[in-house]
Amino acid sequence: MLDKIKTLQAEIEKVVASSVEEVDELRIKYISKKGSINQLFADFKYVPAEQKKEVGQAINILKNLALNKINLLKESFDVADSGDSGNDLTMPGEPIKLGTRHPLSLVKNEIIAIFARLGFTVSEGPEIEDDWHVFSALNFPPEHPARDMQDTFFIEKNPDVLLRTHTSSVQIRVMEHSEPPIRSIFPGRVFRNEAISARSHCIFHQIEGLYVDENVSFADLKQTLLQFAKELFGEGTKIRLRPSYFPFTEPSAEMDVSCTICGGKGCNVCKYTGWLEILGCGMVDPNVLEGCNIDSRKYTGFAFGMGIERITMLRYGIKDIRHFFENDVRFLKQFESAT
Ligand code: DAH
Repeated sequence: MLDKIKTLQAEIEKVVASSVEEVDELRIKYISKKGSINQLFADFKYVPAEQKKEVGQAINILKNLALNKINLLKESFDVADSGDSGNDLTMPGEPIKLGTRHPLSLVKNEIIAIFARLGFTVSEGPEIEDDWHVFSALNFPPEHPARDMQDTFFIEKNPDVLLRTHTSSVQIRVMEHSEPPIRSIFPGRVFRNEAISARSHCIFHQIEGLYVDENVSFADLKQTLLQFAKELFGEGTKIRLRPSYFPFTEPSAEMDVSCTICGGKGCNVCKYTGWLEILGCGMVDPNVLEGCNIDSRKYTGFAFGMGIERITMLRYGIKDIRHFFENDVRFLKQFESAT
């Protein structure tokens, strides 16, 4: 009898099942009324009295082993079963929703792509600048009222350290470190100590352009900007250059494009003029070239600078500049399908 119990024990320890049905078969085989363990209990009456205690204990141990084993097998199928009912733990979790590109980045990338086709590379410079790169090298003499054109954030302890008020500072850095021909644009963030309103902000973005080579003329400037305007706003776009003043360009101009909303007929966006101002430009002042050790008798150049917010507002009909910086997802989501 004890031998029989041992054999059964070894057998039960090894059993495996590959389905719920097989577990049931094992249950019937070992622990049902007609199962082999019950058979042992039935035969118990033939065990000699002096062995009854030992054999009885062994059968009980065997029975518990069988019960545990069968329960465990059953449980393993219960877990797998619940997978079928929609709780498959191997499924991927909640998908993470990708954000969308900020409208300012969309327009910035578009402008970069247009100038890349015209042969312009992209360079960047620091946001925390010094007086030389933001003002002096750009021909703003000390105490000259032109410095008041831009309200600057200075560091109190050191007035030579300031937040750049325009990306024109990158022109200087590039000219200081490279030789003509230079044909590059400089996108970046700029800062001005200005009251925040629907039309202006103390932080905004600009793209500056610079082309320096032998024989660069105002005609090249005009043609480059016309091509740019047509690519950005559409083939039918016209441009107009109005004389203006910037310390670092001579002559200087401001460029208008025919109104992107009414096409030039006159509407409330262009204030019934048919034109929208979008950038400042001019021929690089010889003083600026010389300050960067570029021979102004040999080389000439043109430069231009534009605000990305203004162009983005025109492009998407956005009426308040503050939307760009609040990062309200309801605003940002609208640009999901934009390129
Ligand atoms: N830096 C000027 C501004 O922030 C824009 C500008 C005007 C840039 C004329 C130029 C330029 O390169 O030639 O208002």
